[in-house]
Amino acid sequence: MQAEDIKQEIRRLLAERNAVLLAHNYMRDEVQEIADITGDSLGLSQEAAKTNAEVIVFCGVHFMAESASILSPGKTVLLPRLDAGCPMADMVTVEGLLELKAKHPGVPVVTYVNSSAAVKAVSDICCTSANAVKVVNSLPDREVIFVPDRNLGQFVAKQSDKTFHYWDGYCPTHERLKADVVARLKEQHPDALFVCHPECNPSVVALADHACSTSGMYDFCRRSPAKRFIIGTEAGILYRLRQENPDKEFILASPALVCPNMKLTSLEDILEALTTMAPVVKVPEEIRVPAKRALDRMIAIPRD
Ligand code: 13P
Ligand code: SF4
Repeated sequence: MQAEDIKQEIRRLLAERNAVLLAHNYMRDEVQEIADITGDSLGLSQEAAKTNAEVIVFCGVHFMAESASILSPGKTVLLPRLDAGCPMADMVTVEGLLELKAKHPGVPVVTYVNSSAAVKAVSDICCTSANAVKVVNSLPDREVIFVPDRNLGQFVAKQSDKTFHYWDGYCPTHERLKADVVARLKEQHPDALFVCHPECNPSVVALADHACSTSGMYDFCRRSPAKRFIIGTEAGILYRLRQENPDKEFILASPALVCPNMKLTSLEDILEALTTMAPVVKVPEEIRVPAKRALDRMIAIPRD
């Protein structure tokens, strides 16, 4: 089948099944193109919570589909590629987190959404890169346990007066971007602004003109009068940046900024998922209910 025919069939099946297609900003260009809604982790979880559709086709990675299942238990959540995981999410386990909690009794756990439902279930509140500073600063406590991203944790700690207990997790894709590479690019393009994701190493974030979530980058680059940007996040972001800003130039800071998991989902996979109504991601109630508490507390905090 030709790509155009596959897209048409996907749209037909989406209507027939009363399904909505959500895609993360890192998805392949052609997947973003046919999605009903594209967004960052926060935006997509808000959409998953409020959609009227009976079926959510989640084009992203496993923890995102789990969050959709947690927030919308009455809906069928399809993850076209069940093998699309997140290595950072896999770096923290329930047992490990319980050990850390035991070392710091009474200290609240702030868990980045890039984590399993089971880890969320033993957390106090979730955060995304878009609201992490607000979430942490909304807590009355003097100390926080922050899991699993040590880089995002350090980024937030710089904007908070709380004491942080970190988990030593990181995103292998963002960690591949090195500060010397960025410094060289900045020298080559002195007029360019460097914008990066807080999942990058702190030595990279220190060089940034702006660090924010993926959707935050669209806003920043659209509003900025600058004409050239060096982008420090996964390559999928370039599709919409270039589409929305045809008069501006976007330079990917490194060709290594490709997340293999985010690139797995193809149009064929989406068609297959809608045809067979599988694979389904469903979080069991005993995990879903406590995990929802942590997600709900986060969602209650308004976005800027
Ligand atoms: P955001 O889109 O929320 O910034 O998340 C980045 C990410 O790594 C998702 O896996
Ligand atoms: Fe996980 Fe990083 Fe890929 Fe996001 S970009 S899914 S954090 S490995």
